[in-house]
This record gives sequence, structure tokens and C-alpha cells, in this order.
Amino acid sequence: MAMEFQRIGVIGLGTMGHGIVQTMALAGGQIKAFDTDSMLVENLHQRIAKNLSVMMEENAIAPVDVDEILQRITCCDSEADAIKNAEFVVEAIAEDLQAKQLLFARCESLVGADAILASNTSSFPSSSIASGLRHPERAINTHWFNPPHIIPVVEIIPGERTSDATIERVISFMKALGKHPVRVNQELPGFVLNRLQVALFREMLDLVGRGVISAEDLDVAVRGSLGLRWAAVGPMRVGDFGGWDILSKVYQVLAGEIRSYTQLPEILADMQASGNIGLKAGQGFFEFPTEDQAEIIADKDRKFMAWAKTLREAYQSGE
Ligand SMILES: NC(=O)c1ccc[n+]([C@@H]2O[C@H](COP(=O)([O-])OP(=O)(O)OC[C@H]3O[C@@H](n4cnc5c(N)ncnc54)[C@H](O)[C@@H]3O)[C@@H](O)[C@H]2O)c1
Repeated sequence: MAMEFQRIGVIGLGTMGHGIVQTMALAGGQIKAFDTDSMLVENLHQRIAKNLSVMMEENAIAPVDVDEILQRITCCDSEADAIKNAEFVVEAIAEDLQAKQLLFARCESLVGADAILASNTSSFPSSSIASGLRHPERAINTHWFNPPHIIPVVEIIPGERTSDATIERVISFMKALGKHPVRVNQELPGFVLNRLQVALFREMLDLVGRGVISAEDLDVAVRGSLGLRWAAVGPMRVGDFGGWDILSKVYQVLAGEIRSYTQLPEILADMQASGNIGLKAGQGFFEFPTEDQAEIIADKDRKFMAWAKTLREAYQSGE
């Protein structure tokens, strides 16, 4: 599929930004990239080369000439160099509304009338980020998932004043990148997928916190039942297959039983207090010895790639 945007500026090269740069360069885009942390600019090529070689080892992508892809990525010393004349700007900077608003405002004076400004925010509505823009019709949220070079879906959330043309161009661009754009029709906090994730986390943390099931068994249970069914056909179809008559009865029995509280579950508050907040602390529900962490992350990514490959094949066959 032809890529409409060739000149792309990416600002913020951390966890999300570097994978977004990689995806766009792999698809043939010319990227100019900037981060206020010069170390992340300096080692951008190295990080992407490593990701690409792992993806090739896992057959997650067809063999490519890594140097050719890296040549399409220019590391810039200034934000303006990365943005100037870009047709498509992605911001993946820290989750700070004002910083994102100011960045997009600076972009407006450096890009052409047709350029699109896409935010990777996890929480702010596109309308807020674009509130001070002269041309808010060009701003949109494109919410990628970590790791962005592996997870297929990108939520597309237009703001109140985003134009239809912008939405259509962004959706076709994401398809050209090999992504699966999913349009969200209203600007709700958390968009769609983070709302679902929090709803499930609330119940899971309650069940584990009360000792109803261990964290380990919960993972086994979900992977081998809900997770498998959802990945294979999607939860709405699972409902259709099961029958909403039965599910309505189950819903009525359970809706008042499951958790609806808004405060942080006790188990999470305890984890925060003890510092055992997951991989980066070496301990969460599971143990992650510091010396093994690089391999643990690589192993997790290999698993994501294997499942993403299965999904890609299903999408390609029209499922
Ligand atoms: N990590 C995730 O799972 C995830 C998923 C989806 C969306 N997001 C969103 O993506 C964005 C980036 O998140 P991340 O996880 O990559 O964070 P990160 O901290 O890994 O990277 C952010 C980078 O932005 C740089 N930065 C900050 N302010 C800047 C500025 N004004 N100009 C240039 N660079 C600047 C920082 O130096 C840092 O390298 C956030 O809005 C976040 O909410 C994150």
C-alpha cells in the first residue's frame, strides 16, 4: 500500500517514540527524530537495529536491509529540525498536557497547511491538546500500544474539530504502515481499550487481593480461556456465540457482585508502599531478577511477535 506521508517528524524517542519511528521507516517513510534527552537521540539507530534483527530472527518481518532502513532515519539536534516541513508529526513526549499543547503550537509555524499533528497521549482528549491551534482540524490522537512496532492495533480518536479528511488520511496511513487502525467515535477518557483494561484490572486485583485466586493461576486461567477466545474472534463475537440470552442472566446475577469502587485497590496501594511495582523494581506479582531482565523482556516480545503473526495472518485472510 502506498504511503501518503513521506516526510515524518517524531518528537520523543522513549518507549513509544522509537518503536513508532521504526514502524514508519520500515514502511518506507523518511523520518526526522528528536528527543530532549540527547542520549536517546544518539542511540536511536542502535535500538532500532536491535529490534529489527530480533524481529527478523522471529520471522515477524520479512528480511530487510537494516542499514537501508536506518538511512531513512535522521537524528536531529533540535525540535525545529525534526518538524520543519514534515507532512506528518507524531508526538510521543511525556504525558503532560501543557507540553503537548505547546509542542503542537510550535509545529504549526513549521509545517505546511496540509500537515497532520498526531498525539500518542494515553489520556488527554485531542480537543484539549489542539485547543490553542489555528488549525485544530489537523490534530488527532493516534494511540499506539507498547511495544508499538509489534502490537497491531492503533486507536484513532479524532477531536471535536478534527476534519473528516484528517481522519481518513490517518486511517489509510496506519494501514499503509501495516497497522490495524480502530476508530473511536467519541472522546472519552481512556478512549476504549484503557477503559476496558482498567475495568478488568479492578476485578482481577480485587480477586487476587482477597486470595480468591493466585496471580499465577489468574494468568493461566485468562490465557487459556478469555484471552484465547478474545484473540481468536473478539469478545463481541464470543458473546454472540455464547448467546446473549444466557449472558443476560449471568450479567444480572453478577453485575451487582463485581467491584465498582473508585479508590485504588488495597493490594495496589500495598505494592506501591513496598516499592514492588513490577519488572522495573525486580518484583511485582512475579520476580524479575535484574540480571535476567533483558532476556525476560526479549522473551515477552518474542511471544507478542508470535501471536501478532497469527493475528496478522487471520486479518490477511479477511477474518
Ligand atoms: N508506555 C506505554 O505503554 C504507552 C502506551 C501508549 C501511549 N503512551 C503515551 O506515549 C507518550 C510517551 O510515552 P513513553 O512511554 O514513550 O514515555 P517515555 O518516558 O519512555 O518517553 C518520553 C520521551 O519524551 C522525551 N521528552 C519529554 N519532553 C519532551 C519534549 N518537550 N521534547 C522532546 N522530547 C521530550 C523524554 O526525554 C522521553 O525520552 C506518553 O504520552 C504516554 O502516555 C505510552
